[in-house]
Amino acid sequence: MSTHWYDQQTIYQIYPKSFNDSNNDGVGDIAGITAKVPYLKQLGITTIWLNPIYQSPQVDNGYDVSDYYQVDPSLGTMAEVETLIKTVHDNGMYIIFDFVLNHTSDQHPWFKQAVADPHSKYRDYYLWQDPAADGGRPNNWGSFFGGSVWDKDPAGGSQYYFHLFDKRMPDLNWTNPAVQQAMRDVAEFWVEKGIDGLRLDAFIHLAKADFRQTYPSETGDQTPIISDMFYAHLPKVHQYLHDFVAAIKAKHPETYVVGEASSADPHLMVDYTKPGTDECNQVITFKTFADDNTHDDHSFSDMFQPRPMDVTTYKQHTVGIQAALADTSLPTLYWNNHDMARVATRYGDAAYPKESAKSLATLLYLQRGVPIIYYGEELGLTNIRYHDVADFEDQTVPEFVASAEAAGKTESETMAMLNATHKMAGRGPMQWDDTAYHGFSEHQPWKHGDTDAMNAQAEVADPTSVYNYYRQLLTLKRQPLFANGQFVMLGSDKALFTYLIDDDCDQAAVVCNLTEQTQTYTLPFAGDDVLLVQGGATFQERQVTLPAWSNIVISPAK
Ligand code: NOJ
Repeated sequence: MSTHWYDQQTIYQIYPKSFNDSNNDGVGDIAGITAKVPYLKQLGITTIWLNPIYQSPQVDNGYDVSDYYQVDPSLGTMAEVETLIKTVHDNGMYIIFDFVLNHTSDQHPWFKQAVADPHSKYRDYYLWQDPAADGGRPNNWGSFFGGSVWDKDPAGGSQYYFHLFDKRMPDLNWTNPAVQQAMRDVAEFWVEKGIDGLRLDAFIHLAKADFRQTYPSETGDQTPIISDMFYAHLPKVHQYLHDFVAAIKAKHPETYVVGEASSADPHLMVDYTKPGTDECNQVITFKTFADDNTHDDHSFSDMFQPRPMDVTTYKQHTVGIQAALADTSLPTLYWNNHDMARVATRYGDAAYPKESAKSLATLLYLQRGVPIIYYGEELGLTNIRYHDVADFEDQTVPEFVASAEAAGKTESETMAMLNATHKMAGRGPMQWDDTAYHGFSEHQPWKHGDTDAMNAQAEVADPTSVYNYYRQLLTLKRQPLFANGQFVMLGSDKALFTYLIDDDCDQAAVVCNLTEQTQTYTLPFAGDDVLLVQGGATFQERQVTLPAWSNIVISPAK
C-alpha cells in the first residue's frame, strides 16, 4: 500500500445545521463552522467532513439537492464556503464534502423538466417504467424510507419514477452518459474550489437490475419489500464508480474518495478499495455493528427497540474487516454518524458516562484505520430527547408507534424507545456552553428537546473530561505505531476488548473493560510503559486489573 495524506487523518463529521449558528436564526451555518476550526484543531482533528450543504428543499436535510452549484441559503453563501475552505487549509487541515450522486431533489431543474416534458432530454436523467400488467406499480421493490420505490409521474402520465429514498428524491439514471458527465462536472467544480475529497453518498446503489423482476414472496403479494439484490452492489457499480473517480483523479490525483457502502461485507469493502482500480480509497460500512436482540419484545415492531451491543459478534465483524483489508486499504473507524443514535446513548453506560465514553473510544480508534468522530462525541454527548413524534420526520415512525400502542406501551415508553434509537435523536445541536441553547444559537434551535448537561467549554477546562481524553487519545493515534501498525485481536471474553498494534519496531496492547465489574487480564508480554490509562486500570508485569469501564494501553520493555 502506498501512502497518501488521507491515510493519516482523523476525520470529524459535522452535520452543518446542528453545529454552530452564527446568525442566530436557529439553524447552524457555514460561518459557524469556520469559527470553530480552532476548536477542532485543538482537539486533534485533521480533516472535516461536512454533510451536504448544497441548495436543497431540506426534505432529507440536504441529501435532496436542487442545485449542486449553490450553497443552501439557510447555511450561508459561496463566499463563506470559500472562507471556510481557506481557514481549514490555513490551519493545516483538510475538508471533504458529502457528494450526493444517486439521486436529486424533485425540485432539481432536471427533474422538473423531465416531468414537464416527457420528450425533453432530462426525462432520461431519471428512471421511468410503465405500470405492471394490472396497471399497478412496476414491481414490489421497497424504498429505504418506507413504501415502494415507485411513484406515479407527478404530471399525471401513466409511467412511474424510481426513488430509493423519499419520493421527493428521484434516482438518477446512471446508464445515461449525460448523467455521468453531469455528476463529474459537479465534482470537478467543488474540487477546483479547493475541497480535498468526497464522501460518496449511497454510491453502492447507482446500478439497478431489470425492473421487470419481482422479489418472490410466499403469498406472491405485492407489498413493497427491501430488495437489495436488485439495487445494491450490482457489478456495474464498479464501472460507474471507476469512471467517475478516474476522471477526478486524472486532474486532481490526491483527491480523497471515501464511499458510503452501508451494506458492504469485508469482501465488497476490498473490491471497492483495491489499489490501482480508481474506485474508493476507503469505505464506510454499517456492517461492523452488532446488537443483541435476545431481549426484544416480540409483541410489537422491533424497528426502534433499544438493544445493547453484542460484543462478541462486534469483535468478529471487526476482525473480519481488519483481516480482509490488511493489505488493501484502511478501515474507517466510527461509532456513530447522522444515520444512527449517538454512541453514548446506544452503548454508553449511564452509571459510568465518562469512563464508558473513554473506553469505547479507546477500543476503536487505536485500531488500524481512520477515525471518524461525529460532532459532540468528544464530549460524550447523548441523544436529544424529543416530545413529539413529528420531530423524527420519518414516515416509518407512526407504524412503530401504532404497533407499540397496540401492545400496551404508554406514550412515554414509546417516546423513550424512539429517543434512544432514532437517527434524528442523534442530530441535536452541538453543546458549546451552559447558556440557553447551549451556546449553539441565541434562537431556539431547529431541533430542540431535553438534553444532558455536558458542554465543550466545561470539558475543555476539565482535565478529566471526555474531551481531554479524546485529545490524548488522538495524540497517541498520530504516533507511528498507531498510525501505521497492524491490528492483531487478542483473545478475551465479552467483558473485554483486547488487541495488539504492532509494526516492525514497536508494539502495544490495548485492553478495555466494557462492564461495570472489575476485570483482570493477562498480557502477552510484561508491561513496561503505560501509553494511556483511564478509570483506574493498573498492571503488574503481565497482570492487568481493570475497574469498571477502565482501559489501559501498554507497551513491553524494549
Ligand atoms: C445516506 C445518508 O447518510 C442518509 O442520511 C441519506 O438519507 C441517504 N443516503 C440518502 O441520501
